[in-house]
Amino acid sequence: MGQCPGCGAWSTLGEERVSAIAAGGRGGKGGGAGAAAGRAAAARVVPLRDVLTARVPRLTTGIGELDRVLGGGIVPGSLVLLGGSPGIGKSTLTNMAMGHLAAAGRATLYVSGEESAQQIRLRAERLESSACRALDVPVVAETDLEAVLATMEALKPDVMVVDSVQTLHAAELGGAPGSVGQVREVAARIMQVAKAASVAVILVGHVTKEGSLAGPRVLEHLVDCVLQFEGERERTYRTLRALKNRFGSTNEAGVFEMRSDGLVEVLDASARFVGEATRKPGSVVLASMEGTRPLLVEVQALVSPSELVPPRRVVNGIDRNRLALVLAVLGRHAGIGCGTADVFVNVVGGVRIDEPGADLAVALAVASAQKGIPLGGEGAQLPVAAFGEVGLTGELRSVGHAERRLSEAAKFGLHDVIHPAGAPTLPQALRAGFAGAPGGAARAA
Ligand SMILES: Nc1ncnc2c1ncn2[C@@H]1O[C@H](COP(=O)(O)OP(=O)(O)OP(=O)(O)O)[C@@H](O)[C@H]1O
Ligand SMILES: [Mg+2]
Repeated sequence: MGQCPGCGAWSTLGEERVSAIAAGGRGGKGGGAGAAAGRAAAARVVPLRDVLTARVPRLTTGIGELDRVLGGGIVPGSLVLLGGSPGIGKSTLTNMAMGHLAAAGRATLYVSGEESAQQIRLRAERLESSACRALDVPVVAETDLEAVLATMEALKPDVMVVDSVQTLHAAELGGAPGSVGQVREVAARIMQVAKAASVAVILVGHVTKEGSLAGPRVLEHLVDCVLQFEGERERTYRTLRALKNRFGSTNEAGVFEMRSDGLVEVLDASARFVGEATRKPGSVVLASMEGTRPLLVEVQALVSPSELVPPRRVVNGIDRNRLALVLAVLGRHAGIGCGTADVFVNVVGGVRIDEPGADLAVALAVASAQKGIPLGGEGAQLPVAAFGEVGLTGELRSVGHAERRLSEAAKFGLHDVIHPAGAPTLPQALRAGFAGAPGGAARAA
C-alpha cells in the first residue's frame, strides 16, 4: 500500500518479514538441541549463587570521558548504541576509541557503511598520535549484513564498530536500509554473533533533531547501553550521556571539544565557563551537576519589549516548559512580570542542562535582565552562582549534591552562591542576588 490506512501518510509502510533464521536461532537458544522441532525440553535452572562468573576486565577506550560514561570501559561482549545528530562527531569518537584500543594491543574492526576506506583514512590521519593508532585499525567498507557477520566471525575482534546501523542491509528481508524492520534485524543478527564470539560492538545510529528517524529508537531495549552524543554542531562543546546502561550509572556525562586533531576531553569546563562569564545584567553562573561531576556554566537571559502576541520565549540549553514555569512564578510571587516582553535564555557554550536545579539560575538571570542590574551589585568582582529548584508557590526546593556544587563554586572563588538552604523562597533569593554590597548575598554555608 502506498498510503498508510492508519494515519494517512504516504510511503511510510515498511515491509517486515519474520525470517526463518531468526526464529530458528531463538528456539535453539531457549531449549537446546531439538527444541526448534516442536515441544521443548525443560530448561535447566541454576541458583544465582552457583552461576559461574569470570571476572573479565573492561576494555578501556583510552578516552577518559567515554570510559566514565560507559561505567569504566566497554564490557567485553556487550552491545553499545551510540546515537547522535549528523556531524556531531560519532565517527570521530569511535575512530579514536578504536585507535586507542589498537594501541593497547586489542583486536579491533571498523565497519563503515557510510564512508569509503579512503575517507576513513583521511580522518584517521588527523587523529593519529602516539596514544591513538587510528591508522592501525582494520576497516571494511561494507553494507551487506551477511558479509559483515562473516568478517566478524572470521576475525573475532575484541571490539567492533558498525558505522552506522542504518546503512547495513539484510538481503533476505525486504525494505530499504534504515527502515525499522531492517534496523532491528541487523542489530539482532549482529548481537547473536557478538554474544557467541564475545565481540563488544558499538553500533552508531543517526538521530535527527526531532528524533524522527525510527531506526535507533527501536534498538534501545535490545542493546546493553545507549549513549547519546549531543550538542550544537556549530558550538564548541559536545556532551556524551548514557541514556541506558546495564553496567553502570546513567548519570554520567562527558564533555568534549571538537578540534582538528579530534575530540578533546574538556576536564576544566567549569574554569572556562566561569572565566568567560560576563558579569553583565542577565548573567549568572549555574552550579549544576553533570552526573556525578559538578559543572559551572553561565546562564544568560535577555528581556526585550515585544511586538508579538504572544511574545517569544526562546531557550537554548534548558527546557522551554521550565522557563514558562519560572516566568510564571517570577510574575506571581516576585512581582517581576515579563508578560509583554520577549524572553531569551541561553546556556553558554552549547551545554544542555536538564535538571530542575537550573530553575533558580534562570529566574535570577531573567530578573537581572529585566531590571538591567547585574547580580551581586555593580562593584562585585566575581559572578554570582546559584542552584535550586523553583516551586509553584514561590518556594525554593533543595536539589541533590548541594555540598559538591558549593565546593565546586568555592574552587573557582565564587563565594556568593544563592541556594535554597540560604534563601528558602524566590523573593529572598532575589533580595540576596541584588543586595549589592559584597557579602550581602546569601553566602555559602
Ligand atoms: N579538520 C577539522 N578540524 C576541526 N573539526 C573538524 C575537522 N574535520 C571535521 N571536523 C568536525 O568533525 C565533524 C564531523 O565528525 P564525524 O564525521 O565524526 O561526525 P559524525 O557524527 O560521524 O557525522 P555523520 O553523521 O555524517 O556520520 C564535523 O562536523 C566537524 O565539526
Ligand atoms: Mg559518521
